[in-house]
Amino acid sequence: MINEKLPFMFYGGDYNPDQWPEEVLEEDIRLFKKADINVVTLPVFSWAKLQPSEEVYDFQWLDKIMDKLAENGLYVCLATSTAAQPAWMSKKYPEMLPVDFDGRKRKHGGRVNFCPTSEIYKDMSTKLTRKLAERYKDHPSLLLWHIGNEYGNYCYCDHCEEQFRIWLKKRYGTIENLNRAWNMSFWGHTVYEFDEIVVPSGISEMWRDNGRDRSNFQGISLDYHRFMSEAIFKCYLEEYKIIKEITPDLYVTTNLMGTFKPLDYFKWAEKMDVISWDNYPQLIDPMYVTALRHDLMRGLKDGKPFMLMEQTPSQQNWQPYNGLKRPGVMRLQSYQAVAHGADTVMFFQLRRSIGACEKYHGAVIEHVGHENTRVFRECTKLGEELNALKDKIIDSRIEAKVAIVFDWENWWAVELSSGPTIELNYIKQIEKYYKAFHDKNIAIDFVKSEADFSKYDVVIAPLLYMVKKGVADNIENFVENGGTFITTFFSGIVNENDLVTLGGYPGELRKVLGIWVEEIDALFPHMKNSIKVVNKAINLSNEYSCGMLCDILHLEGAEAIALYGSDFYKDSPVLTENKFGKGKAYYIASDPEELFIKDFIGHVCNEKNISSSFENIEGVEITERVKHDRKYIFILNHNEYSVELKLNKNAYVDLLTGDKKCESVTINSKDLLILEDKI
Ligand code: GLA
Ligand code: ZN
Repeated sequence: MINEKLPFMFYGGDYNPDQWPEEVLEEDIRLFKKADINVVTLPVFSWAKLQPSEEVYDFQWLDKIMDKLAENGLYVCLATSTAAQPAWMSKKYPEMLPVDFDGRKRKHGGRVNFCPTSEIYKDMSTKLTRKLAERYKDHPSLLLWHIGNEYGNYCYCDHCEEQFRIWLKKRYGTIENLNRAWNMSFWGHTVYEFDEIVVPSGISEMWRDNGRDRSNFQGISLDYHRFMSEAIFKCYLEEYKIIKEITPDLYVTTNLMGTFKPLDYFKWAEKMDVISWDNYPQLIDPMYVTALRHDLMRGLKDGKPFMLMEQTPSQQNWQPYNGLKRPGVMRLQSYQAVAHGADTVMFFQLRRSIGACEKYHGAVIEHVGHENTRVFRECTKLGEELNALKDKIIDSRIEAKVAIVFDWENWWAVELSSGPTIELNYIKQIEKYYKAFHDKNIAIDFVKSEADFSKYDVVIAPLLYMVKKGVADNIENFVENGGTFITTFFSGIVNENDLVTLGGYPGELRKVLGIWVEEIDALFPHMKNSIKVVNKAINLSNEYSCGMLCDILHLEGAEAIALYGSDFYKDSPVLTENKFGKGKAYYIASDPEELFIKDFIGHVCNEKNISSSFENIEGVEITERVKHDRKYIFILNHNEYSVELKLNKNAYVDLLTGDKKCESVTINSKDLLILEDKI
C-alpha cells in the first residue's frame, strides 16, 4: 500500500491553485468532494513562486493550501517543483541551461529545460526539496512525494562533455580499452587522450532521420545514452535521498512516460518506491498498445502495483488532433489501468488553466467553472465507484506465465545503427508479440534481460540484437529447465558495446537456438517472402507471408518447422525449434504477417497449456488481479457495441453493483464488469 493513511484507490490529480485567485480553492474543494476526489498533486510547477529570489523562499501560500486541504480530508501527493527553474535563476546561472542536439545553447523557457549535469541546478533543486521536506514532513495531508516532472532532458553542453569523459574513464579505465570497445580504428577515429572525445550529437557523429537519432559510431552514442540516462537519474536521486532522510517512511516517485526511449526505466525503478506514469493514448490508438504500456510500467518493479499519475479526463492539447474522449471512455481507460495493476486513477488536470498551451487540455473542472458538464459527471460517477471499492483491489497482483523481455540498451542499439533496414523498430516488434497474447487475454509481464525467468513458462525476446553479459546463460538456464524461449531475426548480433560477436550469428544465442545465420537479406516494403509450414505435427496453416528481414540460416541441431517460399534461399528454414535440456527455443527468422504470430503463439500456448479461462471476444479485454483468497476479474468492452460473454462459473459477484452473476453477462459498449471470486 502506498500509504496506510489512505487505504483506498487514490483518485485525483494535478492541481494548480497557484494559477488562481485564493477564493477559487474553496469552490474547488467543494467540487473535489462532490467527485470523491481524495488526492491532489501539487505544486508541480511552482518553483518561481516558492523561491522568488536566491535568498527568499515563500511557503506561506502553500501552507494555506495544504492546511485547507487537510481540513477537508484531502491528501497531497507533494511535488518538489523542480522541473522548471525560475527565470531569474536561468538568468543568474546561464550554465544551467542546456545545449540541444544541434549544438544550440537554449534560452530560458518551456520546462525540463536544464542541463542534468549542472551542479548549480542540483544545488538549487536539492535546497528547495530539503526545505519542502522539512516544512511538510509532519503535515497531515502529506501522502507521498513526486519529484520533478517527466524527466528526459538530454544535453550536449561542454560540461556534459567533461562529465562524459570522466564517466568513460571510470567505465573503460584506459584509452586503449575505449578504442577497442568502440572499434575506433574504423574511419581513423582512434583517440589518444580522453579529452579528444566529443559528445555524439547532430554536429558530430549523429544525425536525425525521421525523428530518430542515428549514429556513425554506435559505441559512443550508446554510451552517451547510458551516461545521460544516469546523469538525469542523478538529478532525481539527489532529491530522493534528501526526502528519504527526512521522511523515510513515505513513498517517493516521479512520473514516467511508458515506452519512453531516452531513459532506462528499469534502472530508475530501483530508486522509485512506487512506479507512476502518465497515460496519454491518442483517440485512435488501439487499446492493446495502452495495455502494453501499463504492463511495461508494472514490470519495472516486479509486478508491484503502480500509479496512474496522469491521464486527461477528456482531451489533450499536444497531440495533432485532440479529440474528446467519448462518453464512457475515460472511465473505461481508468479501469483498464487498474485492470493492469494500477492502484490509483489520477488526472492532469483538476482545473483547466486560463492561459498558455494547457488551456486547451481537458480538466475535471472546465472553463465554465461549475459541475454541470458531461466530463464532471463522468468523473463523479467514477469517483463514487472507486470510493465504494474501498481497499478491495489495491495491493492485488497479476500472475503471468508469459514474459516479454524489454531492454532499453538494446532498443537504443537497434535503432542507432543505419542498416540493414530503416524498418527496424523495436517497439513495433514488441507490440506484435504482445498483441498475440493480449488478444487471447493471457497475462503478460515485462522483464529485463537479466531477470530471473524461472517463474515463467514462456519468455519472448523480440529483436534481442544486443546480448549483454550473462544474458545468454540466463536464457540457456531457463530453457534447460523446461522453459520455452522465442526470439526473432536480428538477434544475438552484438555485445553491450555494439561490437559484433564473431563466429556466426546469432552469436551467443547460437547454442540455445541450434542454428547459424549466415546472411541477412533486407527486403524493400513491396517485396515479400513466405513461410511454408513443413512440420505437419504443428497446428499452423500451410503458408504465411513475411518480409523486412530474412535471415538465411543453417540448422545446427534445431529442426525446421517452416521454410522460405521463394527467392534464392527458397526451402531454407525460416522457423526453427531447438530442443535444449527440458525446454525448447524457437527462432523466427523473418518478420511475419500478424496471422502467423497469432497462430504460432496459439501453438505455443497450447503446448504449454496456457489459456484464459474465458472465451475470447474481439475488443473485450479480460485480466485478473489476485489478493489473498480473492480474485478480481476485469472484463472491459472496448467495442462500439454491446457483447455477451459466457461465464465459466456461476458464483461471481459483480463488485460494482453487488449483484450475483450467473451463466452469461451482457456488457454495453465502453462498459465493464469487475467480478469478484473466492479462490
Ligand atoms: C504531461 C505533464 C503535465 C501536462 C500533461 C498534459 O504529462 O506531466 O504537466 O503537461 O502532460 O498532457
Ligand atoms: Zn549539459
